Amino acid sequence: PGEKPLAGKKAIVTSGPTHEPIDPVRYIANRSSGKQGHAIAAALAKLGAEVTLISGPVVIADPIGVTTTHVETADQMLHAVLNSLPADIAVMVAAVADWRVAGSSDQKIKKQPGEPPAPLQLTENPDILKTIGHHALRPRFVVGFAAETQNVEQNGRRKLEAKGADIIVANDVSPATGIMGGDRNRVKIISSSGLEEWPDLGKDEVAEKLAHEIARRLG
Ligand code: C5P
Repeated sequence: PGEKPLAGKKAIVTSGPTHEPIDPVRYIANRSSGKQGHAIAAALAKLGAEVTLISGPVVIADPIGVTTTHVETADQMLHAVLNSLPADIAVMVAAVADWRVAGSSDQKIKKQPGEPPAPLQLTENPDILKTIGHHALRPRFVVGFAAETQNVEQNGRRKLEAKGADIIVANDVSPATGIMGGDRNRVKIISSSGLEEWPDLGKDEVAEKLAHEIARRLG
């Protein structure tokens, strides 16, 4: 209770995109900025939690009062998260690439005159949230995100179950919303106790509200 309801609690937060190499100079990425994940790490720290932030490649600064580890790929992110266990809280905000390039090249792939481009073979990445949600050292409170462009609620509910999360924070990231890369967010909180729709808020406000919600639900 009081000002620091998360004092003595350890939290792991993932944030940002991952970069999956094609060769030493090229990669596959996504439009995640890390703004929401970084804001959540800072908000949990403000409530007294000891926070480890595992960040993919972003241009924004490390939040103050938080221990930040920088990684590039989904594989590296998984290992950094597993190395940070045990924890009381996990908030998996990162937009982890679902796939990586199978057998990425050690050398820059060269254009071959007159030849068609080499096809990219993809292989599935580990699901970090799902791994944590079903881990023997599962944190007491696990939060996942669901960035969707359609069927937001339905996809969010399915994820709650499949990933072993206590809360799914679902949002519509269709380009017209400006959410991906922007400073505002409009989320739905999906849990076993139902659905709560939050209004359009700044990402910092969503982070503070979520940190308080986590503190409340942790009891
Ligand atoms: O299945 P989907 O990618 O939509 O799930 C999103 C949630 O799962 C987010 O919380 C994201 O951080 C997490 N996730 C993950 N590892 C993956 C894919 C998603 O941790 N490989």
